[in-house]
Amino acid sequence: MTNILFVCLGNICRSPAAEGIFKHIVSLNMLDDHPYLIDSAGTYGGHAGDLPDLRMRQAAKRRGYELNHRSRRITTDDFINFDLIITMDDANYENCYRLAPSVEASRKIYRMTDFCTRHKVDHIPDPYYEGVQGFERVLDLLEDACQGLFNHTKNINK
Ligand code: 4NP
Repeated sequence: MTNILFVCLGNICRSPAAEGIFKHIVSLNMLDDHPYLIDSAGTYGGHAGDLPDLRMRQAAKRRGYELNHRSRRITTDDFINFDLIITMDDANYENCYRLAPSVEASRKIYRMTDFCTRHKVDHIPDPYYEGVQGFERVLDLLEDACQGLFNHTKNINK
């Protein structure tokens, strides 16, 4: 079993999209009893309880992903319940690092872009103040990273 938590700032754009894309890849590659728990959270709790941003839901839907996650803030318990904490940018990485309850827990934190194989980037840009193109760009990067992450973790689950 691999438990993966995707983390961004507001948990209404990047990380719920990563969650939806990763779940889609898992459902395409495995039958019902798949060994993953996939969730997402934000380092900022101001959108707690909200559905993903409408612009992200619409852009994701055009690619076949239904996003129905409800935003929540990351907690220290997440470092117990998840094996991998996958952050979208340096600020998310540093905020998670500060929240980690132990050195061992901090070793669970990774950067999403480390799993990209087609795009050479060092962060997933925040699309919140961008137009439609910003959301499309985020989805392009997340599809690449999610496939890379799935390939990386599926060997663990064999
Ligand atoms: P996210 O995007 O971190 O990808 O969910 C944002 C959503 C909301 C805000 C910033 C970024 N905000 O400042 O409210």
